[in-house]
Amino acid sequence: MAIRNIITIGEEILRKKARHVDQIDDRILQLVEDMKDTLKESGNGIGLAAPQVGMLKRVFIVDLQDEKGMTVYINPEIIATEGVQIGPEGCLSVPGKSGDVERPAKIKIRAQNERGEYFEEEAEDLRAVCICHENDHLNGILFPDRVKGGLSDV
Ligand code: NI
Repeated sequence: MAIRNIITIGEEILRKKARHVDQIDDRILQLVEDMKDTLKESGNGIGLAAPQVGMLKRVFIVDLQDEKGMTVYINPEIIATEGVQIGPEGCLSVPGKSGDVERPAKIKIRAQNERGEYFEEEAEDLRAVCICHENDHLNGILFPDRVKGGLSDV
């Protein structure tokens, strides 16, 4: 078990575009395992993207602490969106802040799992929000960039 340090807003690496994972090797699998440990350790986090632990790789994980458990997305692409929802978001890299963000109501995502297999998933409600939020991290976008009506302290 290895907990990685979560980088917070202001660090340049959070603003860079993450790179495609060409090969899911031991280094990537170790990163994924460490990200799982780090997310669990955070207590209240529901998603974590590789740039948040300083790795510019197109990898994120989501765990809404429901029956779906932890899902790993490698080289994800949001291939369809539908509708709109607006709700409060926070981020482990933006501690103590919250704000309302507009997101698609539903999404479809295509990604690889840890074995390199491609899968597609449809998500809605909070799961769609979380996936969009984590996917943004891979493109250097943080939720405050999208906030409408300002940030508030939590
Ligand atoms: Ni975040």
